[in-house]
Amino acid sequence: MKIIITGCGGQLGTDTLVALASCGHDLVSFTSARLDITDAGAVSSVFAAEAPDLIINCAAYTKVDLAETESEKAFAVNEGGVRNLALAAKEAGAAVLHISTDFVYDGSSPHPYTEEDATSPLGVYGISKLKGEEVLREVLPEHIIIRTSWLYGAYGKNFIHTMLRLAAERESLSVVYDQVGSPTWTKDLAGAIVVITNRIEQEASPEGGSTIWGTYGYANHGVASWYDLAVAAIEEASEMKIGTNIICTSIEPIKTEEYPTPAARPAYSVLDTAKIKRVFGIKIPHWRESLKEMLKDVAKMETEVSNEV
Ligand SMILES: NC(=O)c1ccc[n+]([C@@H]2O[C@H](COP(=O)([O-])OP(=O)(O)OC[C@H]3O[C@@H](n4cnc5c(N)ncnc54)[C@H](OP(=O)(O)O)[C@@H]3O)[C@@H](O)[C@H]2O)c1
Repeated sequence: MKIIITGCGGQLGTDTLVALASCGHDLVSFTSARLDITDAGAVSSVFAAEAPDLIINCAAYTKVDLAETESEKAFAVNEGGVRNLALAAKEAGAAVLHISTDFVYDGSSPHPYTEEDATSPLGVYGISKLKGEEVLREVLPEHIIIRTSWLYGAYGKNFIHTMLRLAAERESLSVVYDQVGSPTWTKDLAGAIVVITNRIEQEASPEGGSTIWGTYGYANHGVASWYDLAVAAIEEASEMKIGTNIICTSIEPIKTEEYPTPAARPAYSVLDTAKIKRVFGIKIPHWRESLKEMLKDVAKMETEVSNEV
């Protein structure tokens, strides 16, 4: 299958490209510098030249706080960019696998969010991502939307890397405990994307099975607060001797109101993953196990770098 992957310089894009590389598909990958998805003409030319069967969109405007003052940019990428991809995919007869977010919910649910639960984003980023979902559903029935949460990977900027850096700089840290969700390793999500991609290939063949198009929640199993995640990451990293030297000996749990941010975040954003497991037979690891595996990857990368110098 010919697959275009957008946003390949990001944390999920990097892991998705690696995961798909050994699967026998014909991959064409684009960083933002090579393909700006807000440029309808560029998107259309690339699709005309490549004639893809599937587009995996890992590109997004992801600066949650900055989006509050850069809403035009957020909507240009997260709504306009998705529209460009959907229209070009329709023209090319291709399907789109798109990534969305737990930030489409307001966090007031008493139970893990299912795909049918009402959306009600709290900030510009979440609204722009919801608009992207809506435009994709409107334009192209052959789509998969995966709502995921609290992504971190060995590559790129994320909460884990920030905590490890701060833990090497400060003896004490304060981290919010009253926002809970499911931390999700990009490598696990990339594995799920591979399973779904292979299934899309089967669906497209004449003997293809039942319809799989629609919206799915995917997150690692288990629930944690940002505080829990910080404690676990710093403990594991200390044990594995990752990073130069962790000097942080105290992590204080604080309330959201003690760490105000420009964008409001859902207090509870656990995703129900029953549908994606049922439809695709995907096995999902617990976040603690995945965190360990991700840190092992970081340790391996550090060893490789130190061997090179
Ligand atoms: N990070 C999370 O915690 C989280 C949680 C839930 C859902 N998600 C969703 O998961 C997906 C992947 O997130 P991520 O964490 O991998 O994000 P990321 O690391 O910020 O990567 C996003 C990528 O999109 C690229 N991009 C931005 N504007 C673009 C444009 N106009 N054209 C083409 N590419 C563009 C960025 O390139 P530049 O760096 O060059 O701008 C970056 O490489 C996104 O859809 C995000 O909304 C993320």
